[in-house]
Amino acid sequence: MTDLTLTYDLEAVRADFPILSEKHHDDVPLIYLDNAASSQKPLKVIEAIDTYYRTYNANVHRGVHKLSEQATKAYEDARIKIRRFINAGSKREIIFTRGTTEGINLVAQTWGRVNLGVGDVVLSTVMEHHSNIVPWQILAAEKGFTIKYIPILEDGTLDMGAYAALLRDNSVKLVVVVHVSNVLGTVNPVAEMIQQAHAAGALALVDGAQSIPHMPVDVKALDVDFFAFSGHKMIGPTGIGILYGKREHLEAMPPWMGGGDMIETVRLEGSTWNELPYKFEAGTPIIAGAIGLGYAVDYLSELGMDKIHAHEQTITAYALERLSEVPGLKLYGPDAAQKGAVAAFSFEGIHPHDLAQILDSGGIAVRAGHHCAMPLHTHLGIPATTRASFYLYNTTQEVDALIEGLYKSKKTFAL
Ligand code: ALA
Repeated sequence: MTDLTLTYDLEAVRADFPILSEKHHDDVPLIYLDNAASSQKPLKVIEAIDTYYRTYNANVHRGVHKLSEQATKAYEDARIKIRRFINAGSKREIIFTRGTTEGINLVAQTWGRVNLGVGDVVLSTVMEHHSNIVPWQILAAEKGFTIKYIPILEDGTLDMGAYAALLRDNSVKLVVVVHVSNVLGTVNPVAEMIQQAHAAGALALVDGAQSIPHMPVDVKALDVDFFAFSGHKMIGPTGIGILYGKREHLEAMPPWMGGGDMIETVRLEGSTWNELPYKFEAGTPIIAGAIGLGYAVDYLSELGMDKIHAHEQTITAYALERLSEVPGLKLYGPDAAQKGAVAAFSFEGIHPHDLAQILDSGGIAVRAGHHCAMPLHTHLGIPATTRASFYLYNTTQEVDALIEGLYKSKKTFAL
């Protein structure tokens, strides 16, 4: 039986997202199933950005005039909203970035540059997005540490036995792991992994790009050292993201980018740094983006992350069931109980790009390719997959349309 405390008015939610009532290719309704790549935006977020530019556009932390004060307040209010949303201990632990990628690079180039060297190990996983592999590879080439990868099991979950064994090597200094895989959908047991990392004397960084839009996240309960995510996947604007870091680590870390706002004093002989979080926010920040993200967080909080998660679990379970009935279709990743709102698959005889194009002509937007997870696809033995990914506004009727689209594609290819 459906738990009515965990439902919401889906039609009302859909009406909040103007793009969902647009026609795709001019005449078909848009069925947007590419939410893992980027989510749509509610009117509230669009209007918040519009209002900033129309009525109080100014730089922050710099002016004494009223507009600047208003912009600064809105920018800092957004930080407070985000602190609450993830239950961070202090707003000083909330660093505005351009997105998850920048957050991870920041940790690599500051904490990593100081703390990693020859003989050290960074432990990652085979299912990481490139953004949680490449920054470590770049730094490893310079500093001489080793990156090892936790393997995955046949069902698309992490091999936790192998993880425990890898940690027994006392040289692991940092574990970097994706919370929810953007391809397999696997929800990794990050709380347990962080605890094990700490017991082994390592810190833990979690890529939360695919978790925070979809489920409640409490950084204090996770005891995570660094947690990075992006605004645009959680109904906020592009170009804005967050790096959460425990204050003790952020205080000890050197700055990354230098420039205005991140300094306390500048002399020709040398400079000193501003307090947190500004030490890591050089230059004029992404003011409209931060304000928009604050409104996105308001929207998600008002609806309730537990309700959003429950809705998506229903849609995903339904999608997996229907997809598994399609002949010639192979799904990747664990079953619905261990999965985020993602269904990646291959379809016998049709290349993922062709399939995505045919679906698109019927108004259905999905993503095809390696989804910035080439090592994972190599592990799966395929160059690419087609991926449908769901969010708070998707319906079971849209899943039905996807299934119908798949059968039509089969006919097009006369399979
Ligand atoms: N990382 C995003 C995706 O999975 C872009 O599509």
